[in-house]
Amino acid sequence: MCGVIGYIGKEGVAPILLNGLKRLEYRGYDSAGVATLGSDLHMKKDVGKVADIHKNINFLDVPGTLGIAHTRWATHGGVTKENAHPHTDCEEKIAVVHNGIIENFQELKRNLVSLGHKFKSQTDTEILPHLIEEIMRKGKNFHDATASALKVLEGGYAVLVLNKNERKLIAARKGSPLVLGVSDTGYFAASDIPAFLEYTKNVIYMHDYDMALISDNGLKIFNLIENREVDRKIDTIDWNIKQAEKGEFQHFMLKEVSEQVDTIQRAAQQNKEVIDQVIKELKNARGIFFVAAGSSYHACLAASYIMSKVSKLHINVVLASEFPHYEHYINDKTLVVAVSQSGETADVLEAVKSAKAKRSKIISLVNVVGSSLTRSSDMFLNINAGPEICVLSTKTYTSQLALFTLLSYALNDRYEEGRKRLNYLWNEIYQLTSATTREKIKELAEKLQDKEHIFLIGRGLQYATALEASLKIKEVSYIHAEALAGGELKHGTIALIENGTPCIVFVSEEHEKEILSNAMEIKSRGGYIIGVSSKNNEIFDFWIKVPDANSENPIVQIIPIQILAYQLAILRGLDPDRPRNLAKSVTVK
Ligand code: M6R
Repeated sequence: MCGVIGYIGKEGVAPILLNGLKRLEYRGYDSAGVATLGSDLHMKKDVGKVADIHKNINFLDVPGTLGIAHTRWATHGGVTKENAHPHTDCEEKIAVVHNGIIENFQELKRNLVSLGHKFKSQTDTEILPHLIEEIMRKGKNFHDATASALKVLEGGYAVLVLNKNERKLIAARKGSPLVLGVSDTGYFAASDIPAFLEYTKNVIYMHDYDMALISDNGLKIFNLIENREVDRKIDTIDWNIKQAEKGEFQHFMLKEVSEQVDTIQRAAQQNKEVIDQVIKELKNARGIFFVAAGSSYHACLAASYIMSKVSKLHINVVLASEFPHYEHYINDKTLVVAVSQSGETADVLEAVKSAKAKRSKIISLVNVVGSSLTRSSDMFLNINAGPEICVLSTKTYTSQLALFTLLSYALNDRYEEGRKRLNYLWNEIYQLTSATTREKIKELAEKLQDKEHIFLIGRGLQYATALEASLKIKEVSYIHAEALAGGELKHGTIALIENGTPCIVFVSEEHEKEILSNAMEIKSRGGYIIGVSSKNNEIFDFWIKVPDANSENPIVQIIPIQILAYQLAILRGLDPDRPRNLAKSVTVK
């Protein structure tokens, strides 16, 4: 995943691109670059973080009111200056930035090389400027040549294209996200709204195969499949720039963890009519599949336990990337509930596509309205957590849980009770995210910071929490963390417990006895037991106090571990907002 931003208008483009790059850096932070149009094409790029590159080569020092920029997460070609975007054609007239993967690039490259094109990088992206150049040589204009070039690409793209000889910006997408922004001073195109949110809240969500041609005279959008100009409406979003800024917090991760006091409440404020329609579909379906990846998958798993407990409904929970193996169960009576913060995860979109081909109904839970997933769904629910910038899912995970909780109670004709239960969490979450809790968790982080392995156990709902907690610790502290259902421990993994091995135990009052007996098995082999529970116990070497919230346990129990993961990252000198090798949304399969 990478981030792209472009602008054409009356304002100087350099600060717009630099601000956009900073806001998009969560999408990739290997290298970055800009290209602007002044009296000539001006280009600057290098490897490293945006701030460091800017310090060295000054991104503000480029002229013009039209330009494109890119922040990279390497897929094809190593992290080198040559592989950083923008990429150009042989004559350096066409500049391109790209997010996605061009799957047939090798074959296209071979052909272009045989025609005499000289490549400077190992990227898949570089074939596009050369292809446009080649088609223009045969007499087509910039616009038609770009459309023709895009039509032969296989795979996914969100691209922005500049031509040194024309004051135009071309923006096109297939598979990868791209949103346009419309302000009084000009037009923006970016991978994500926060990139231009400080300038405008008016957005146009581009559809797959849309190609926008933007000039000083306005904007035209063509659809490359329909082969005609199309109308896309302008939406006004209610996000504000403060939500996309760190404010007084040192990192987005901590800010977003702290925001959960409000985001849970927002997730619980749903349109009752839409909830009723979703409930009707859940009740009528013959076979329900919850499909997601990563943290969203853990939310689905927790939801399946909640739905079994509260509403006696059976749910099949499937990892999006494993969905093809379940396809033969899918038909026109099946309901697929696809869950994704970004709404752009390739595995999820692929699963939805194949379920739709079998005429299954699709309902999605998303945080980004207008994303590819919302457009592919028959119906969607907005978890409404606001922009999540840190690569780790924190507030969006608990908002997904909150919405699932609401649905579970609504399924049982107890919608109001569900809403109230979530409202009551306000005070608990306030305490759990307070400075006092953070200090206490820091004490634990200091004890764990040099450990190589951490084990986590839970049963039922708490098992889903153990999985999500282990993912949080791994992603941001790089400590190996392994989650197990409490009962599974003795079937093998207990062999790894040694003197001092830390094990986090998630306890619910309901299943206290069973999980404490698993904790005891670890303790008697020298394990260091960290209890996450409402009551202290002599088994615990360290106790994290959380309220017993029954069906809402997954929400309250994960918060201290999100904080623990954050503290571990800080103590180990790591950047929690930009964990290595990861990207915020995984738009490749
Ligand atoms: O945008 P999505 O919810 O579809 O993303 C799914 C996963 O890529 C995501 O949850 C990932 O595991 C996060 N890094 C978790 O913190």
